Order: sequence, then structure tokens, then C-alpha cells
Amino acid sequence: MTHSEFGTQAKILIVDDIPSNITLLCEMFEGEGFEVLVSVNARDGLEIAHRAAPDLILLDVLLPDMNGFDLCRKLKHDPSTADLPVIFITAKDESESRLEGFRVGGVDYITKPFQREEVLARARAHLTISGLHRELRRQNKMLEEQMNRCKHAEEEVREANRSLEDRVAERTAQLQELNRRLEIDIAERKRIEENLREFPRRIIAAQETERKRVAQELHDSVSQILSSARYRINWLVEESGTRNKASLEVAATVRELLGMALDEVRRVSNNLRPPELDDLGLLAAAHSVCDNVTAWSGVQVDLHFTSVPDRLPPDIALNLYRIIQESLNNIHKHAMATRVRVQLVLSNSILELSVKDNGKGFDPAAPRAPLKPDGGFGLVSLRERATTLNGTFEIRSAPGEGTEIVVRVPWVTPDNPQTAKP
Ligand SMILES: Nc1ncnc2c1ncn2[C@@H]1O[C@H](COP(=O)(O)OP(=O)(O)OP(=O)(O)O)[C@@H](O)[C@H]1O
Ligand SMILES: [Mg+2]
Repeated sequence: MTHSEFGTQAKILIVDDIPSNITLLCEMFEGEGFEVLVSVNARDGLEIAHRAAPDLILLDVLLPDMNGFDLCRKLKHDPSTADLPVIFITAKDESESRLEGFRVGGVDYITKPFQREEVLARARAHLTISGLHRELRRQNKMLEEQMNRCKHAEEEVREANRSLEDRVAERTAQLQELNRRLEIDIAERKRIEENLREFPRRIIAAQETERKRVAQELHDSVSQILSSARYRINWLVEESGTRNKASLEVAATVRELLGMALDEVRRVSNNLRPPELDDLGLLAAAHSVCDNVTAWSGVQVDLHFTSVPDRLPPDIALNLYRIIQESLNNIHKHAMATRVRVQLVLSNSILELSVKDNGKGFDPAAPRAPLKPDGGFGLVSLRERATTLNGTFEIRSAPGEGTEIVVRVPWVTPDNPQTAKP
């Protein structure tokens, strides 16, 4: 390596106390473009070596204040100057002296008188070697720094992984908790839905119980009181004879009113719980309700029972009766019909009830208004009654085309034990 390969001028420190040597070496190196620093004693040489950081030191052994070997030792002990290449250049030619020069850390040993070219060649060789060393050390340092950065990055990745795992675990726990709450919510919702589904059935059951109770009450209390009052009025009329004409007329009117009240109570009570249903069965009760409709509204109602026994299980009889009753109520309220046909057929363990009118009809698929406190429960209740009997419920209707309510209920009779599906 020449001085120009350093990028800046290579610096040579010459430590020698003989002026002719100094002059010669200075001329030589300066002539080759080197920057030359000079010290004539060891103490200054040490100080310049520290301050000016030369690239190479040419060191005489015999110096006025210190042996050159000792100066070299000092340089090698100090980390800031330890890497400076030192070439001894001396008149001491003994091999022991040469050995000592290498022992204390010198890289070369040149004896005086020296060859100009040889000194230059050796100086260049050591500058190159020391430059290569420096480069090696630089690259080593870079490598070490890169390794440290890699280690650091690895540690960061490990740390990131750890925190990611922690977050995943935390998130998983949160999701599990959410899931658990969701399952509870779903179970609760199912329970509420189940209750809601049950609700109409319970209303119907409560309605039936209440109707029965009120019918009973009317029969047992109000009817009895009215009968007893009529009996007494009858007695009064007979007892008083024709003595007081005006009183007789009033009593006769009261008797008539009491009779009407009794009939009305009986009618209401029948509607609430027709005694025919319990006493005579569904056909008789259905006849009675159909006749009533004809009597109030003039709508002609035809009733047909085909293959239906006199006695049906009470829950089937009651629910079919209510379905007929509510269907006829609807016809009376909404249909503006002139004819109705009520038909009940038992076939293959299926009881099929149809109530068909020739009225104005309606669109069963049209969205219905929410239930009002005073109505809109009829069709819901019909469907629920069919469901209570494990049956099906269907409305066949269209505007202008009349309406047919069809209910199919399975009834497995003892003589036909197969399971029926409506
Ligand atoms: N036979 C029918 N002909 C024409 N429209 C009917 C008939 N039956 C039901 N509807 C229509 O269906 C609607 C719902 O009937 P639903 O029996 O459920 O309620 P509602 O009769 O209005 O009230 P509620 O029966 O509770 O007293 C009626 O308002 C009516 O518009
Ligand atoms: Mg109704």
C-alpha cells in the first residue's frame, strides 16, 4: 500500500536523535509524498504518537532519554497506540538486539546503514499490512455489530411472539367468556320463546276454566234468584186475583221481564259453556250454535257430520266446538255471507272440520295489525286450539271468494290404534 491508498496522506513518525539520519529519512519519505513527523527523543515521540496518530513509526534504539525498546513497550501497552506498526532502524546489529526488537512488538528491524529502496519497500509493506489489519478489524467490528443487531432483532421477535401469544390467549379467554354468555342468552331466549309459544295455549285454557266458572255461577246463583223471584211473582198474581187491576198489570210485566232475564242468562251461560256439549255431545252443541246464528243473523247454516261418533274425547269435542263457534262469529262479524256449510268427517283416524262461507273473503297472507286489547285473537286462538290437539289449521280465502277454515285433528280410536298424521 502506498501513501495514496489511504485516501489521505500516510503519516510517518521518525524518532531518532541523529540529525543526518533524520534528514535522510525525511527527504526519502517526503520525496515519496508521505507526511513526516519527527521527534529527537523518546518522550516527545510518545507524545506525538498519541496526539498525531501516525500510520507507521521508524524508531531508533539508542535515544538520549529512553531505550527505543522501552518506548516500543510503552506504545504496545497502551490500547490507543498498540496497533501502530513500529520498525526499528538502528546501528545495533546483534541478533540479541534484533530478537529484543521483535519481542517488544516491533514489526521489522532495519540496520544502518540502510538501503533507501529497502526502507521504503519495507515501510510500504508494513503500512499495507497494518492497513489490512485495520480493515479486518473494521469489518470484524461491522460483523459484530450486525450480529448484535440480529440478536437484538431475534430477541424482539421472540418478545413480540410472546406478547402475541399472550394477546391470543387473552382474546381466546374473552371469546370463550362471550361464547359462554351467548349460550346463556340463547338458552334464556329459547326459554322465553317457549313461554311465548305456550302463552296462547295457557290463555285458551284459562279462558275455558273461567267460562266454565262464570257459566256455573250464572246458573247456580243468578238463575236461581231469578227463578225464585218469578215463582213469587206468580204466587202474588194468583193470590191477589182481580182485586187490584193496576198491580196485576205491573206484576205481569215483572213476570215477563224476569222470564226474559232468565232466558238471557241461560243463553249467555250456554254460550260460555253449552250444557249440550257435556250432556249430549258435539253434534247437539254444534246444532245449537248453528241454529242460534241463523236465528240472530238470518245466515243459513248447514251442518253435516259424517262417520263421527256421538261421543268424542272431551278436549277434542270442546276445541272443535270453540273452532266452529269462533268461525261462525267471524262470519257473522266480517263475511257478509248468506250461506255457511259446517262439515265434520272422520276418515282414517283424522277428524277433518271445514267451515265454509260464501262471504266477501279476505287475504290471509296480508300482514295483520298487532293484537288489539279488544280483538284480533280469534284466528290465533283457532290455530292454537288445532295445535293443542296436535292438528293442523288452514285458512283458504281470497277477497270476493268466500272463506274456508279447515282443521285436521288426529284421533286414534281404540279400534283403530295406528298413529294418525293430519
Ligand atoms: N269468514 C271471514 N270472512 C271475512 N273476513 C274474515 C273472516 N274470518 C276472519 N276474517 C278477517 O280476519 C281478521 C282476523 O280475524 P280474528 O277472528 O282473528 O279477529 P277479529 O274477529 O277481528 O277479533 P276477535 O275474534 O278477537 O274478536 C278479521 O278482522 C277479518 O278481517
Ligand atoms: Mg274473530
